[in-house]
Amino acid sequence: MKIINTIEELQTIRKELKGTIGFVPTMGALHEGHISLIKNARINNDIVIVSIFLNPTQFLPNEDLDKYPKKDAADKRICELCKVDYLFMPDVNSMYQSNDEISIKAPKITGFILEGEKRPGHFDGVLQVVLKLFNLVQPSNAYFGKKDAQQLSLISQMVKNLFLPINIVECDIIREADGLAMSSRNIYLSAEERKEALAISKSLNMTIIAVTKGERDAQTIKTKMKEIMSNLDVEYIAIVNRNFEEIQTIEVKNTIILIACKVGDTRLIDNMWI
Ligand code: PAJ
Repeated sequence: MKIINTIEELQTIRKELKGTIGFVPTMGALHEGHISLIKNARINNDIVIVSIFLNPTQFLPNEDLDKYPKKDAADKRICELCKVDYLFMPDVNSMYQSNDEISIKAPKITGFILEGEKRPGHFDGVLQVVLKLFNLVQPSNAYFGKKDAQQLSLISQMVKNLFLPINIVECDIIREADGLAMSSRNIYLSAEERKEALAISKSLNMTIIAVTKGERDAQTIKTKMKEIMSNLDVEYIAIVNRNFEEIQTIEVKNTIILIACKVGDTRLIDNMWI
């Protein structure tokens, strides 16, 4: 595996690459969720490129940019073991030339609800860095987790709206054995909070059971979810279709149920695609 730290080196190497390129953008502190994306890329492409870049423009001033976990040595080892060909780890000053660059805006409807409403400007920063990374890597296939459902939807929309010749591959959510969705932020949880957080996946599992039994009313499902998560500080529970429009009636194969909540000081998101 070759580690690339500069834009120039990546561009020089990229010119020589032939075959399909699978790309997995990340912010590091890699876990099984990231690894599943990398494995998917490895199976389906000639060349695999992973990026690790803690992107400041997607963090709000009061968010956890400074204490975001950093595990460079372990991340490099994981990428090597996953047979990644190139690991791109640029520094901030090479990715951003100034703090007043040409920007890209998330669309009004999908960009300003749920995460976009709770974290204003977050998705503009995500789209900005992902577009930069796409332009540098020029992948055939790019891999994103359903864990960040709204991010995945906006990136797919950007690729479509800007005519980028990239196939976006949606990857399933990877969970701990007890159901907690894997996240780089889980390490902030105390043992007690870690137990409390299980109410999130429990409430999502309940939705599957309820829908299987024939329940289709979104409000009834939300009320049951709130009961299960009564120990948590829930920011939102949303039931939307694949276009991120709120729906009253659950349609199988076209529904996403999303949760954001705080467990202690840690903000967690999770969702279930039905
Ligand atoms: P990061 O949080 O590091 O996540 C990188 C990728 O891993 C995203 O596509 C995310 O959805 C996926 N992922 C995280 N946890 C997962 C899980 N439990 N199961 C499956 N996939 C999971 O998302 C970002 O970084 C950034 O916003 C980025 C796209 C890199 C832009 O900066």
